[in-house]
Amino acid sequence: MAELQGAEKRRYVADLFSRIAGRYDLMNDLMTLGLHRRWKRRTAALAAQGVNGPAIDVSSGTGDLALELARRPEVDHAVGLDLLQEMVSRAGSKVKARGMSGSVTMMTGDALSLPFADGSFACATAGFSLRNMPDVEQALSEMVRVVRRGGRVAILELSPMTQGLRSALFRPVFHGLVPLIGRLVAGDRSAYCYLPRSVDHFLDAGRLAEMLSGLGLADVGYQRLGFGTVALHWGVKE
Ligand SMILES: C[S@@+](CC[C@H](N)C(=O)[O-])C[C@H]1O[C@@H](n2cnc3c(N)ncnc32)[C@H](O)[C@@H]1O
Repeated sequence: MAELQGAEKRRYVADLFSRIAGRYDLMNDLMTLGLHRRWKRRTAALAAQGVNGPAIDVSSGTGDLALELARRPEVDHAVGLDLLQEMVSRAGSKVKARGMSGSVTMMTGDALSLPFADGSFACATAGFSLRNMPDVEQALSEMVRVVRRGGRVAILELSPMTQGLRSALFRPVFHGLVPLIGRLVAGDRSAYCYLPRSVDHFLDAGRLAEMLSGLGLADVGYQRLGFGTVALHWGVKE
């Protein structure tokens, strides 16, 4: 599962998110007590800071971050891209319901091979999705590639907790309560067992920052959110 690689991981992740697409938003609200909305707003604000032009949200799911990007005054149009048609359809309905069809385009596509020319966007975001990528570095390098010089990249992601008080407090929630809510609300315990395991296997915030710098981003920084369970990274393309 969480330790899968390559095509096997891609298939596993696609199957999992197809199964839970219908309950995805409700589960996010329950698991974060609604805080994911505030974090996404902050991610969009950090991505758009000081830029001007189109934005892309990679692995956009039901489109929250694409919508937040489109609400920023610095952004003239937002693209939300996701591997799964189920997610794109749900995001499309949300965009329509918010009256934002003129400023947000949702589309299917693979984060590892974005269908855009170099430097197409003023900024790029990814929320809670890098963990699910068969190749994290390739996904990040694609985001950096499609952003123009001086443009910004912002990544919102869960962060591993291996020791200390934070781990003692949150591991029982992540590994016990989240799968239980997943079973009761989404009818899919195994999808929500995968979630905490995928976090355990993911890069810690310091290593993710190093990877972003290695890919050619300057002024890389990060902020911990949600009592340290989440990290928000950013950087500027040189
Ligand atoms: C945990 S959800 C995050 C959705 C959204 N960004 C959010 O913050 O709510 C992960 C999303 O990544 C998408 N995904 C997984 N692998 C992908 C890939 N290779 N390319 C594009 N999207 C992918 C899944 O379909 C799913 O919608």
